Amino acid sequence: MRPLFIAGNWKMNPTTRDDAVKLALEVKAGVGAEVSPRVAVCPPAIFLAAIDEALAGSPIGLGGQNMHAKTDGAYTGEISAPMLVDVGCTHVILGHSERRHGMGETDAMVNQKLLAALAAGLIPIVCLGETLEERETDRTESVVTTQLTGSLAGLSAEQMAGVVLAYEPVWAIGTGRVATPDQAQHVHAFIRQSLARSFDQATASRVVVQYGGSVKADNASELLSCPDIDGALVGGASLKSPDFLGIISAARAVESAGKS
Ligand code: PGA
Repeated sequence: MRPLFIAGNWKMNPTTRDDAVKLALEVKAGVGAEVSPRVAVCPPAIFLAAIDEALAGSPIGLGGQNMHAKTDGAYTGEISAPMLVDVGCTHVILGHSERRHGMGETDAMVNQKLLAALAAGLIPIVCLGETLEERETDRTESVVTTQLTGSLAGLSAEQMAGVVLAYEPVWAIGTGRVATPDQAQHVHAFIRQSLARSFDQATASRVVVQYGGSVKADNASELLSCPDIDGALVGGASLKSPDFLGIISAARAVESAGKS
């Protein structure tokens, strides 16, 4: 019912356009014409046009890693949703923890960006998740609730159904410390229940909720087999094509085994 969706967040990597294009071409060759699972890559903004060209003819989506909420104007250094669309983007990551915690992005800012992304026709990937301290003090559910309420304010059920969420516990990002399938499934189920309350059951069951945080080819299968985990947002392991393609293969195997 919900197709699995694997997205690669390249963050501020690689350093050169040549290496970025090479990585995209390797992923393109590995994915071929397969549309299931859905796959997207989110390179640094400066390489988006080159990667769009490299991915021509492939079903792989292209995503920005951030955007400004305004469409144009005096915002030095910023990139708007219509600009992302113009260079070939289909997706955009919003509210990644490295932006929430490193750049002071608030739920209200994520919400403005989300509304702008939807208005431009992009598929937003909205990230949320608790810090280690929040988990250890039993605040995971309240933190996630606050992030959901603030980030998703003002969306219609129809708009919500087209938003991808990524649950990324901050303590699992780039640390090699992956959430156990039980820990992740618990929060994913909680997110879906929250969506059912805020929107409706039908909408909640349509929303794709990715897990992110140290996903690798060897732990992907267990995570993706959980009933409410619909894909992965992959950082480190998306920078080497064999690793990323290994996660995509794991997703394909989970789908063939009867999930979704
Ligand atoms: P990671 O990053 O896979 O390197 O933990 C995930 C993310 O930040 O999206």
